[in-house]
Amino acid sequence: MSVDSDIVCGPIITIDGPAGSGKTTTAKELASRLSFRHLDSGALYRAITYALVKEGIPPERWISLVDTDLDNIGVNVSLEDAKIGICLNGEPLFSELRTTEVTECVPVVASLKVVREWLLGIQRKIGMLGNLVADGRDMGAVVFPEADLKIFLVADLEARARRRLLQNFVVSPSPEEIMTEAKIIKNRDFTDTAREFSPLRRPKDSFELDTTSLSFEEQVSLILSMAEDLTTI
Ligand code: C5P
Repeated sequence: MSVDSDIVCGPIITIDGPAGSGKTTTAKELASRLSFRHLDSGALYRAITYALVKEGIPPERWISLVDTDLDNIGVNVSLEDAKIGICLNGEPLFSELRTTEVTECVPVVASLKVVREWLLGIQRKIGMLGNLVADGRDMGAVVFPEADLKIFLVADLEARARRRLLQNFVVSPSPEEIMTEAKIIKNRDFTDTAREFSPLRRPKDSFELDTTSLSFEEQVSLILSMAEDLTTI
């Protein structure tokens, strides 16, 4: 990934929060309305996880990964068409990043210091371009501590489970399906909150937005109204 020196820097908005809180869909929509880039940092952790699984590197060896392993793993980021693309060996990654196997393994990979440090450099390079909406778990607290606007999205566990199922095309989720999904989300939140490096935390200087009873349009409009002043910076 190269960063042109003549690109003008602009504001950075971070959106953090637990699993299923709607960070990525909200960040994507916000970026589109503001004509900013969208960085889905979860997809970066998923890409490394996918690459490890595809290479057949067993989970017990992940703890021993070093920087050069990550340099050679084939994951890279492209910035063409004002979009941030994630590739493996030059091929763009999409649905491969959302498989059950990747979703189950990604919190383990994301807990490794070497992985977090390797991705920190890439994310900050993207941040240097400005005009960015970045979503994840540590965007406001660690990756972009100087961000212009920091949002922390929360929602009831049941609401998050229901939304996640709807997103995965389960048309009218049953109470049992919601309960099962809620357990999965709770476990992921626990792993992300309890880890040693860059745990999921609400940044001190962030606005917490509870979206349990907000429609998608309401939550996007609320954040847009907070971001209004920034676009003129
Ligand atoms: O947001 P998404 O569900 O795609 O994130 C997948 C996983 O990546 C999370 O469960 C978390 O373990 C990790 N992650 C992280 N820090 C971020 C973004 C994601 O640790 N900034």
